[in-house]
Amino acid sequence: MPKTKKKDKKLKIGIIGTGGIAHAHMDSYRKLGDAVEVVGGSDIVKGKAKAFFEEYDMKDAKAFDHNDDLLALDLDAVSVCTYNSTHAECAIKALEAGLHVLCEKPMSVTLEEAVAMYKAARKAKKILTIGFQPRYDPNMDLVREIVGSGVLGEIYYIQTGGGRRRGMPGGTFIRKDLAGMGALGDIGCYSLDMVLSAIGYPKPLTVSAYASNRFGTNPKYNREAKNFDVDDFSVALIRLEGDIALDFRMSWAMHMDKMGDTMFFGTDAGLKIEPAESSWAEGWGGAWDGTIGPIHLYSDVQGQLSETLIPLRRPSEDRFLSKVKAFCDAVATGGSAPIPTIQSVYNQAIVDGIIRSSRSGREVEVDLPKDL
Ligand SMILES: NC(=O)c1ccc[n+]([C@@H]2O[C@H](COP(=O)([O-])OP(=O)(O)OC[C@H]3O[C@@H](n4cnc5c(N)ncnc54)[C@H](O)[C@@H]3O)[C@@H](O)[C@H]2O)c1
Repeated sequence: MPKTKKKDKKLKIGIIGTGGIAHAHMDSYRKLGDAVEVVGGSDIVKGKAKAFFEEYDMKDAKAFDHNDDLLALDLDAVSVCTYNSTHAECAIKALEAGLHVLCEKPMSVTLEEAVAMYKAARKAKKILTIGFQPRYDPNMDLVREIVGSGVLGEIYYIQTGGGRRRGMPGGTFIRKDLAGMGALGDIGCYSLDMVLSAIGYPKPLTVSAYASNRFGTNPKYNREAKNFDVDDFSVALIRLEGDIALDFRMSWAMHMDKMGDTMFFGTDAGLKIEPAESSWAEGWGGAWDGTIGPIHLYSDVQGQLSETLIPLRRPSEDRFLSKVKAFCDAVATGGSAPIPTIQSVYNQAIVDGIIRSSRSGREVEVDLPKDL
């Protein structure tokens, strides 16, 4: 249960976009007990918010077909659970209405939108945090602690592993007008967050990327091939401040078991994180989503090339619940964004760079505004 400023003050929450992931938000808020109440929701599809609350038998919840009606309620915060192309407009409206925002990932489609969201939160002096729940995995903490301890020395190269052998969603995820991008926004942003959060999110400088969609558009592999107009595969070389090269790989479908492991190369040691065997053997994933398998540390001990296997931690709580709880705690106690907003802007800057570079076929600069 989140800590509240006043014992009698319940956090009043609204949900914008009552589709698939809104259920995970609702389930988590409900698990937080009396300190939190979801009082309403809205969706642009007529009657969808009403049907959502009926599913939960929540007769007192207010359901709307227009977000402005939801924002007019007496709320503390909202979850933005819309598809990617409307994250920015929904989050900015809620911030301007004086509400704290937990927005689903990826932050937005373009860097320009992410910057506008960041500035809206700063102006409103409200929390805007992006929902990367793998951050709350204890083994992600372990990776961050190992890297943060300095044991690797100076880190100069990072590889994000992962990628699904077969894991293409459908519906709103495969339409550019709604999702803005495919595998990159669905799961690529997680793999970026995993490695960048471990090294304190240095500024991205340039991106050279390649993206394609040979599986998504092929009826042999995808029943919804006709509607598919986003990426299902991308790779990129990203230069980061501090003379670090980031090698990014992501896919929704491929004829390969996995796209490598997640690796940090340092001057004193190297760290390799394999995806849990179950995740890649099922064709579904890599360590980026929290399905972390063995972690190996490579170093020289007394001149001997050595390898240490680091034992994994056992998760004690559902990561999605942890993310919603961290948000509610921050709202209730006047804290700051559990995942600092600027980090998600940098994440989006890379995603935006990958889209621009793969489209133009050449390396692009990452132009972050000076006033962030
Ligand atoms: N964190 C996770 O584990 C996770 C998992 C799945 C999806 N997601 C993210 O959640 C978001 C939504 O995914 P989903 O699977 O729920 O999609 P979905 O298509 O099932 O639901 C999105 C809903 O938002 C509504 N909507 C769109 N624009 C709106 C607007 N301007 N105002 C109000 N409602 C609007 C749509 O009508 C739809 O009902 C995506 O950004 C996705 O990346 C996160």
